[in-house]
Amino acid sequence: MTAGHPDEETLARAGRILKEGGLVAFPTETVYGLGGNALDPRASMKIYAAKGRPSDNPLIVHIAEMEKLSEIVAEIPEGAKVLAEKYWPGPLTMILPKADIVPKETTGGLDSVAVRFPSDPIAQALIKAAGGFVAAPSANTSGRPSPTTAGHVEEDLGDAVDMIIDGGQVGIGLESTIVDFTEEIPVVLRPGYISLEMLRDTLGEVRMDQGLIKSDSTVRPKAPGMKYRHYAPKADLSIVEGDTDAVVAAINSYAAQAEKQGLQVGIIATDETMERYPYGVVKSIGSREDEETIARHLYEVLRDFDQYQVSAIYSEAFYTPRMGQAIMNRLLKAAGHKIIKVQEEKQ
Ligand code: TXA
Ligand code: MG
Repeated sequence: MTAGHPDEETLARAGRILKEGGLVAFPTETVYGLGGNALDPRASMKIYAAKGRPSDNPLIVHIAEMEKLSEIVAEIPEGAKVLAEKYWPGPLTMILPKADIVPKETTGGLDSVAVRFPSDPIAQALIKAAGGFVAAPSANTSGRPSPTTAGHVEEDLGDAVDMIIDGGQVGIGLESTIVDFTEEIPVVLRPGYISLEMLRDTLGEVRMDQGLIKSDSTVRPKAPGMKYRHYAPKADLSIVEGDTDAVVAAINSYAAQAEKQGLQVGIIATDETMERYPYGVVKSIGSREDEETIARHLYEVLRDFDQYQVSAIYSEAFYTPRMGQAIMNRLLKAAGHKIIKVQEEKQ
């Protein structure tokens, strides 16, 4: 496994593996994917088995040429054409009515199919070498944080895949935005790098899936995968929310208490605050001045904490301007929605 663009021979071999029904993990601009031939039901079954994922949780079909879209969907609504034009190739997945050639195994039994055209050149080369349609969920064991390096894939799925293509660390670090076009008004099923505001600027009316908005909502998220607890580190994670000074003070008090009992907590801080935490295992997720660094490192930081004997993990909240919705969606899931709200003490 060496990072960088793989040579022709490696890509040809990966393409052959996929055509013969095997599994290849590969980089995309969002997270690493666990690829199989999307038109081969047995390959999809292998993907579910490798991840330990329930087979009613559908896979995303990846394409690398715009013309391929019409082969796997029954219909392309106008709004989907506009989004494809604007954001493909890129971190956007669209749910559309499926064509007959897409097996139900790939779509978890649904009549719709999720389609994405990634921008990563390695992903594109692989998809073309495989014949054009690669089903790929994130290449993690079900429930664990998605992989942002080939090393993460090796950790989770090393024995279950036929090949891992190493393209180095991914650029975005959070999975694609999912927009559902099977209803009258397009609905965001999973927030990502492309924000609700960006979609509204392009399409006009766009809704957020009700199941995503509230943690205690009785409405189920429409993307089957969004209902599961996810991305969770081994130690219990809580998010501490409020003014920066109050958050730092609260986390320091938990850390000091733990230390008295001979324990250590983990702390997810930022470049701006990390020096302010004297106790515990402190990790900076990135800089608030550059929110993309926070998105890029989130899963890596969550995974990292599994190597430490920490009794609990406390994280600052990251409601950053553009990607905050996507970042907090993942962090809240990882924390099982445990939030501690703190306030500045009144003088
Ligand atoms: O960025 C990404 O999208 C990455 C990379 C590898 O492309 N892939 C990814 O796949 O995140 P996965 O399987 O981890 O997440 C796909 C999500 C799941 O929550 C699934 O339930 C939902 O998409 N989904 C797939 N097909 C669907 C459909 N037809 N209707 C509703 N939700 C669907
Ligand atoms: Mg996933």
